[in-house]
Amino acid sequence: MLIKVFGGAVQGVDATIITIEVNISRGCLFHLVGLPDSAVKESHERIKSAIKFNGYKFPTADVIVNMAPADIRKEGSAYDLPLAIALMAASDQLISEELDKYLIMGELSLDGSLQPIRGALPIAIKAREEKYKGLIVPKQNAREAAVVNNLTVYGVENLTEVVNFFNKKVELEPMVVNTRDEFFLQRDVFEYDFSDVKGQESVKRALEVSAAGGHNLIMVGPPGSGKSMMAKCLPSILPPLSLGESLETTKIHSVAGTLEQNTSLISNRPFRSPHHTISQVAMTGGGINPQPGEISLSHNGVLFLDELPEFTRSVLEVLRQPLEDRHISVSRIKYSIDYPASFMLIASMNPCPCGYYNHPTHACVCTPGQVQKYLNKISGPLLDRIDIQIEIVPVPFEKLSEQRPAEPSIEIRKRVIKAREIQDERYKDFPGVYCNAQMTSKLMHKYAQLNESSTKMLHNAMVRMNLSARAYDRILKVSRTIADLEAKENIEMCHIAEAISYRNLDRENWAG
Ligand SMILES: Nc1ncnc2c1ncn2[C@@H]1O[C@H](COP(=O)(O)OP(=O)(O)OP(=O)(O)O)[C@@H](O)[C@H]1O
Ligand SMILES: [Mg+2]
Repeated sequence: MLIKVFGGAVQGVDATIITIEVNISRGCLFHLVGLPDSAVKESHERIKSAIKFNGYKFPTADVIVNMAPADIRKEGSAYDLPLAIALMAASDQLISEELDKYLIMGELSLDGSLQPIRGALPIAIKAREEKYKGLIVPKQNAREAAVVNNLTVYGVENLTEVVNFFNKKVELEPMVVNTRDEFFLQRDVFEYDFSDVKGQESVKRALEVSAAGGHNLIMVGPPGSGKSMMAKCLPSILPPLSLGESLETTKIHSVAGTLEQNTSLISNRPFRSPHHTISQVAMTGGGINPQPGEISLSHNGVLFLDELPEFTRSVLEVLRQPLEDRHISVSRIKYSIDYPASFMLIASMNPCPCGYYNHPTHACVCTPGQVQKYLNKISGPLLDRIDIQIEIVPVPFEKLSEQRPAEPSIEIRKRVIKAREIQDERYKDFPGVYCNAQMTSKLMHKYAQLNESSTKMLHNAMVRMNLSARAYDRILKVSRTIADLEAKENIEMCHIAEAISYRNLDRENWAG
């Protein structure tokens, strides 16, 4: 008897339907065809054990399994369950009439219990698109998949439950989550808050500007000046995720298997801080069984690179393209995949190898050459993509021991949200542009115009500080954001002046 069961394969962050066909005839061989990888081939042993352990019979005849379409590589152990169900149906142990109405995925243990899978969300989205009646997945993935509305999702614990369901011996309880409730329930809980950071008003202000306009930012300062601490506070002042953004980000985390169990939607912007020993593949995504990398896991959030010069040059260089394009294409011989990667880059570094260059009280022991060499570890084109560059000086002890709490993040965030609302309105007719940092030159021409006196001042400053031409665009974008924070329509002198002060590394006298 020929049986068809349906499952899903994830490519990039989207799923494709996979048809599993099983035919049983006389003989005693087991054939699995249709580009399965070794984990899928090994499923034979797991399925056999699971079927026998639960008191069913494993067919003792010729079994041919075909997974179609044949040109898509089937990876991992998530096909165990649909394969087992197809085998049971082909050997007349399961009623097959409803099988084509469901999408089924899950990994089997030897005793027939189910293990969670990756990519349940994109598979659920595909199931709804293709109008399947329901989706059957391991219990741990049910909440994640149930985010998709107009699709019945069943979370199951073991093989027997699924067999009994199709044999109409039991009814399964569909998983129901109210996406909106769930989303708003967990929002806005943050570990770090700016009220704990003493002093450092100018750095906090720069972070506020960066959050308001989506600008990339680098902090340069000596050890212990609070760089890492303040970067960790940044999520608490970023504008909240919209439901649409949340779905995009959750999809990526679903594919990567980094969603916490029993969560349905990611409700806060991701903050990823990979260690500087990270490999290029882990940063960009890819690998033998392709997975999204850190830049995609920080989609719609922050990628924080602490101690920037310690990252290998090749890892830093691959950031350049996604920083411009906001997605990454990974091409290998066997596949080519596109992952979204729209993130804010926040970096920190010491100014020199010893860490004390430009320090007010501590002498630096590095030669000017060493300082320059340290900075040169970060290439010009990468630095060019960082709008705000600020120097941090440690706060004196008197300030640190001050009891008065600083302004809490929630207040700063209100201003950021206001500035973002202005930008939402401004860019509503420009798809793909959400904040000032993403302005194209055409948009800059339209929205970041300077009057005569401001132009003159900027010109003078550029000549006097010997700023590079590439700093010009950055200054304009940042001034636009500063003006938005004050709800000013036109960019004024004071906005430009502040933006110029955020070009510390461009100054000619930096590093002597
Ligand atoms: N302005 C501040 N207010 C409150 N605490 C601070 C401040 N600056 C530094 N600290 C304290 O100093 C500690 C060290 O700061 P942090 O690790 O952020 O420094 P860093 O600049 O990242 O140093 P490194 O270059 O060594 O990584 C923090 O955990 C915090 O307790
Ligand atoms: Mg640090």
